Amino acid sequence: MLPLSGLTDEQLHQAADRFGTPLYVYSAAELDAALGRVQQAFSGTRIWYAMKANPNLTLLRRMRAAGVGFECVSAGELARAEHIGADAEGILINGPAKSDAEYAAGARLGATFILDRPEEVALLPAHARVLIRVNPGLPVSTHDHLATGAADSKFGVRPDELPATLSALRDAGHTLQGLHLHIGSAIRDAADFGAAFERVAALRAMTGPLEVLDVGGGWGLDADLHGIAAQAQAAAAVFGAALWVEPGRYLVARAGVLLTRVMGHKTTGRAFTLLDAGMTELLRPMLYGAEHPVRALWQGEQQQVSDLAGPACESGDLLGRDVPLPAGATRGDLLALLDAGAYGAAMSSNYLTRPRPAEALWDGQEWQVIRRRETVQEVWAAEE
Ligand code: LLP
Repeated sequence: MLPLSGLTDEQLHQAADRFGTPLYVYSAAELDAALGRVQQAFSGTRIWYAMKANPNLTLLRRMRAAGVGFECVSAGELARAEHIGADAEGILINGPAKSDAEYAAGARLGATFILDRPEEVALLPAHARVLIRVNPGLPVSTHDHLATGAADSKFGVRPDELPATLSALRDAGHTLQGLHLHIGSAIRDAADFGAAFERVAALRAMTGPLEVLDVGGGWGLDADLHGIAAQAQAAAAVFGAALWVEPGRYLVARAGVLLTRVMGHKTTGRAFTLLDAGMTELLRPMLYGAEHPVRALWQGEQQQVSDLAGPACESGDLLGRDVPLPAGATRGDLLALLDAGAYGAAMSSNYLTRPRPAEALWDGQEWQVIRRRETVQEVWAAEE
């Protein structure tokens, strides 16, 4: 039996009955456990939550109460940080193509800026606090869409551009706080981190000592956090710098489950289990070939293999391929897609005028609806 993020089958049935499906549910206990594991492995390290993974206000408020800051990449994410009362010391603004509105919002909030290319020096607000994102230029073991530290990715300042960037920053009167790197997401081989950290540590000859080394996020759900922490701390020590990290997925993925109901079955050249959730609710399988563990909440003696297909009119609308499930599911039976707390609800869409799903949090005692289901009228409201 697969672990269900601290939630029992009975609680899942209860949530689906009360709030309908498709439904995202989260376990507060698992959220706390993940943050605890990070705090323990990275003791003394400043933790910034990459809110793109799941920007739900309730989750952000819990993070803030635990002393976590926020890495933001849009005016909207900055507005969320401001809305929940994050202060200047708790906001980073990052992104390869920041708009004027984003520079202005970052300046108003007193955020620390992550500089992504040399030309940005001229765009920064006066007296900005800055981390320079460097691109270590190494291959990364993940899906191509998720690799950001490779030489041909769009991110970061090249090491050969660093000396000129450093002097331009100084001349413009900004404060260099340190260096930043983030080599990608859902990284499979932990050795990638160590190799990238070493590349960046070698830049000490150009930068001299620094206040901060921010090594980003990107940890897989089974990552050896202690191993990554030791390598990151060694690199920070080279600069005499404090270590910062920016996990997204690791903090929220395990805590979340997408609940969906079986709508029926079909066999063509392949066998399909048809669901009421698909690419509009969980895009990751279609976009990255991501495999989310699946748990059927019905009983059946034999296992049958099928593809999990959503309701969209696209053949790629699959949540899983060749998934073994107990035979004999009937319409309405419940299925859980696990590890869906990160980049699940956050990447859901209104394609096909499908209202985005509700989200509910099990706080240990009761269910709280932390985002109600959208209505169809809300989906078209901006058109009227
Ligand atoms: N820091 C920076 C600068 C980032 O760009 C990201 C993620 C993170 C931290 C957090 O990375 P994490 O710890 O979550 O891997 N939509 C994709 C993931 C895209 C990640 C983008 N950047 C997915 O569904 O897998």
